Amino acid sequence: MAYKDLHDSPFDQTTIAKLDFFEDYAQAWIPTFVMSEADTICIFDFFSGTGYDLNGVEGSPIRILKKIKEHIGNIFQKGVKVKVYFNEWEPNKKEQKKFELLQKACSDFLYENKDVNRAIELNLFNENFEELFPKLLPEIKKFPSLVYLDQNGIKFLSEKYFLELEKTRQTDFLYFVSASYFWRFGESEEFKVHLDIDMEAAKKEPYKFIHRNIIEQLRMKLPANSELKLYPFSLKKGANIHGIIFGATHPRAVNKFLGISWKRNEINGEANFDIDDDAAKIQATLFEGKRPTKIEDFQKRVAIKVLSGEITTNKKLLDFVYAEGHIGAHASDCLRRLKKKER
Ligand SMILES: C[S@@+](CC[C@H](N)C(=O)[O-])C[C@H]1O[C@@H](n2cnc3c(N)ncnc32)[C@H](O)[C@@H]1O
Repeated sequence: MAYKDLHDSPFDQTTIAKLDFFEDYAQAWIPTFVMSEADTICIFDFFSGTGYDLNGVEGSPIRILKKIKEHIGNIFQKGVKVKVYFNEWEPNKKEQKKFELLQKACSDFLYENKDVNRAIELNLFNENFEELFPKLLPEIKKFPSLVYLDQNGIKFLSEKYFLELEKTRQTDFLYFVSASYFWRFGESEEFKVHLDIDMEAAKKEPYKFIHRNIIEQLRMKLPANSELKLYPFSLKKGANIHGIIFGATHPRAVNKFLGISWKRNEINGEANFDIDDDAAKIQATLFEGKRPTKIEDFQKRVAIKVLSGEITTNKKLLDFVYAEGHIGAHASDCLRRLKKKER
């Protein structure tokens, strides 16, 4: 399948929204591990691109380096080794121009920022992800790792890679997936060899939920005892829906991801548009009355579980909050109101 090259034109708004999200996650992830007991941390950007777009807007690798710079004081103070892995490879091209641009962008940045140059070990690769991933997997498994998989299309969401990431214990990963491709081609054999999604089930829901739906089906592919938690963030690009898939096992990581999602969309926290039509639910309609918004509906369910004694501890409450893709503040608002009523 042919893909439009992201670097042939300036980044569009959706690409920038995706990169901003990636950047926010690095901003939250780096200090957590720098301030912990870890002596080495790793960041992998397997599909790095060129470093900048045609207008000089920073791409994922430069954004990662800038985030490292923001935490440089603590990195030196704690003596943490930061290993950075960037890869860029253009299929079927003898001349690897994008990789050359990436090399130059990194070396210029590190020349200008000698502190970052001293703090990190930069490993640059010009390899097909299919071959590089198995080579770097032992490193991903060994250290706390942040893994970006900003692919074109959907191919590398294949179980071959995705289930390997599931087995890691200290990895947070962010995939980019062109979810709308599933809608169009998901039934074809070309797609099914990479990821077999039940498109009949997916198409029972409106198109705008395709990304959410893929995640639900991915969850079903996880081993029964898996601790991996998966969350979507859908991105609308014109008529198409794409999105980020976040995965991690630790509740602290989930908390960070959901915090960023809800900060980016305070109404329904799961997309860069009003995916659950909550704006329309604010006003009562003649026939339906007032429909609860996503947050109100969640708070109702929290209240029922607390009042029925099903949720009795903070831990149980937080597990429910994260399982539902919400943030602690939504539950505490509800508890505050319940306490007020009791008085
Ligand atoms: C969506 S772009 C990544 C954009 C990048 N994150 C940025 O901020 O500019 C995907 C990149 O992966 C590269 N690519 C395509 N197939 C690849 C493969 N099999 N292995 C590694 N890189 C690949 C493409 O050349 C392209 O630059």
